[in-house]
Amino acid sequence: MEATTVTLVQESFEKVKPIAPQAAEIFYSKLFELDPNLKPLFPSSEEAMKTQGNKLMTMLAAAVAGLSNIDALVPVLQDLAKRHVDYKVEPSHYDTVGAALLGTLEEGLGEAFTPEVKTAWADVYGVMSSVMIEAAY
Ligand code: HEM
Repeated sequence: MEATTVTLVQESFEKVKPIAPQAAEIFYSKLFELDPNLKPLFPSSEEAMKTQGNKLMTMLAAAVAGLSNIDALVPVLQDLAKRHVDYKVEPSHYDTVGAALLGTLEEGLGEAFTPEVKTAWADVYGVMSSVMIEAAY
């Protein structure tokens, strides 16, 4: 992965961190708007969804930080992907999650979501999701 891609993603994610709970909320509303069929895969209570949102943001933060050391990140993503099979996640869902993620960043970052930042995130999510899909299916 290009060093500038990693820097763009890491720097823009710093701006998301202070609004992580709101970002998680935006993310799930976008995700369920894109594909309502995904809703039953997740816990139904609001409290559990908050916990879920925290886990997602924490994992995303770890992944973004880990981009500087991709060799250490790969096995973490592979294990995560295998657990997702038990959550009934299918390969095609990764594209939907990617679209919800980019939409969330666009909304959360506003003007800071430049075309360069968008491309960098699309690259990074593309690499992460292909590592995960390859490991799990
Ligand atoms: C880069 C991609 C993704 C990341 C970083 C991520 C992160 C996480 C994390 C950290 C958890 C907590 C449980 C665990 O660690 O095993 C989790 C659970 C879950 N994820 Fe993901 N995920 C990703 C992709 C997806 C996709 C594509 C779907 C498809 C809809 C999905 C649906 C779920 C579901 C249903 C759960 C379990 C919820 C529950 O029953 O508590 N995730 N995810």
